[in-house]
Amino acid sequence: MSVIEAKKSEEYREEIEAILAKYEGDGFALIEILHEAQELIGYLPKDVQKIVADNLNMAPTTVSSVISFYNYFSDTPKGEYQVALCKGTACYVKGAKEIIEKIEDRYGIASGETTEDGKLSLEVVRCLGACGLSPVMTVNGKAHGLLNPEKAVTIIDKYLNREMEEV
Ligand code: FES
Repeated sequence: MSVIEAKKSEEYREEIEAILAKYEGDGFALIEILHEAQELIGYLPKDVQKIVADNLNMAPTTVSSVISFYNYFSDTPKGEYQVALCKGTACYVKGAKEIIEKIEDRYGIASGETTEDGKLSLEVVRCLGACGLSPVMTVNGKAHGLLNPEKAVTIIDKYLNREMEEV
């Protein structure tokens, strides 16, 4: 467990215990509990998983397999800027793959990862519902379309340099 994870869990311990208390050890409430814990912390660190597993009398591996089964859950911290790049059909045929490769190359992260400084995370997702603008990505929920590899990293750089508001 990383120092950051331990700190996060300590920071949120009381609130996690309050969430658990609401469900009174009901194992069927695992998804709801994980949902609330992730809403609180932003992701589900290993030792939070252990607190939940202990409370529900479950093996930690049961909890971690539920987390890996559902795309919604994450056991790694998200970056300050969260890029979701679409690899749905419309975006794929217009070059999403090259954009993903460019982002991976430039920032040294693959889908599901966060840069070491905690600034940027990347997720490759299915159709974002803006196929007319393909290829598309969102950064912290804001859509950017008609991308090519250069345009995508220029936009991301502007976020990282806090210049995006002026764009
Ligand atoms: S396929 Fe990318 S937005 Fe629909």
